[in-house]
Amino acid sequence: MKTYEHVYDILSKSPDFVTGESLAKSLGVSRTAIWKAIQTLQEQGIDITSVRKKGYYLEKGDILLPQDISKQLNIPVYFNPDSNSTQLDAKHGMEKNNPTPALYLASSQKAAKGRFDRHFFAIPQGGIYMSIHLKPNCYFADLPPYTMMAAAAIVKAIQRLTGINTEIKWVNDIYLNNKKMAGILTEAISSIESGRITDVIIGIGLNFSISDFPKELANKATSLFTSEKPSITRNQLISEIWKLFLTIPTSDLIKVYKEKSLVLDKQVTFEQAGKTYTGVAKEIGDKGQLLVLTDDGQEKWLSAGEVSLTSW
Ligand code: BTN
Repeated sequence: MKTYEHVYDILSKSPDFVTGESLAKSLGVSRTAIWKAIQTLQEQGIDITSVRKKGYYLEKGDILLPQDISKQLNIPVYFNPDSNSTQLDAKHGMEKNNPTPALYLASSQKAAKGRFDRHFFAIPQGGIYMSIHLKPNCYFADLPPYTMMAAAAIVKAIQRLTGINTEIKWVNDIYLNNKKMAGILTEAISSIESGRITDVIIGIGLNFSISDFPKELANKATSLFTSEKPSITRNQLISEIWKLFLTIPTSDLIKVYKEKSLVLDKQVTFEQAGKTYTGVAKEIGDKGQLLVLTDDGQEKWLSAGEVSLTSW
C-alpha cells in the first residue's frame, strides 16, 4: 500500500482527529510525507478537516483500493486512474490476453458508454465504474443471463450491506425511490469460426455518493448516498457485488431479479417495429425476456430494448 492509502486506512477507522505526528510515527515516515498524503487524498475528493494541534479528521469520502478488492475476490483487479471507459480498459486487457475473470476499475471515466451508444454520466468523484471480463466460450443460446445476474447481485449486495431496498427496472437499470441509481451494459464478442461467444464484458456504473446531478438528470437520477456520510465504502460494495455475482447460483440470482422487479404487474409502454404499444408486464423469463400483455390483447415477449413505466 502507498502512504496515502495507509493514511486513509487509519483516518477512516478513527472516530476522532489523528495528529500528523502520530500518523508519521505509526507509518514510520516524515511529517512532510503525511502532509503530502493528505494532499493526495484531498485531490481525490476526500473531505478531510485539518485543525492545528488536533490533526486530521476524515469527514467523508473514500478511495478505491484495488489490491484489497482483488484479495477479497481472488481475481485480478486492474485500476486505471485515467480511464476513458472501463469497457475499453477490459477490451484492451482482452487483447493483451490478461487472465479472466478480471475486474477493470476506475474512479472516473472520460467517455463512459451506456446502452444504445448513449453517453453515461460519470462524475469524477463518488461513483463506481467497473467492468468484469469473462470468457464463457459457449453458444449464444447457452449464455447465462449475465445482465440479470449483475442486477440481482447489485440489489442484494446493497441490501446486505446497508439495508437499503433498491429495485430493478427491466432490463438493466437499478432504481432507488423511483430514480435511476445504476446501469449495466453487457457486451459480447463472438468468433465467426466457432460460432461461440468467446468474451463477455459486463460494465456497471453506480452513483454511490453524489449529491449534485446536472439539471437534465436531476429528476431522473439518484445516488445510493446523497448528502449523508456513506455507511459503507465503495470497496466494500464492489467486493460484495462481484462476490455474489461469482458465487451465488444463477437460479438464485434470477429469483432475486424477479422479486425485485419494478415492472411486473405495472403498465408499460414500448416500441416494436416503429409502433408504440402499452400493456401490463406479466412475467420475466429465465433468460431475461419480458412478457407484456398489450392493451389490444396480444402477448408479446420482449428480449431486448427498453420499456417505459406509464405510471409509478
Ligand atoms: C446504461 O445505463 O445505459 C448502462 C450504463 C453502463 C455504464 C458503465 S460505467 C462502467 C462501464 N464503462 C462504461 O463505459 N460503461 C459501463
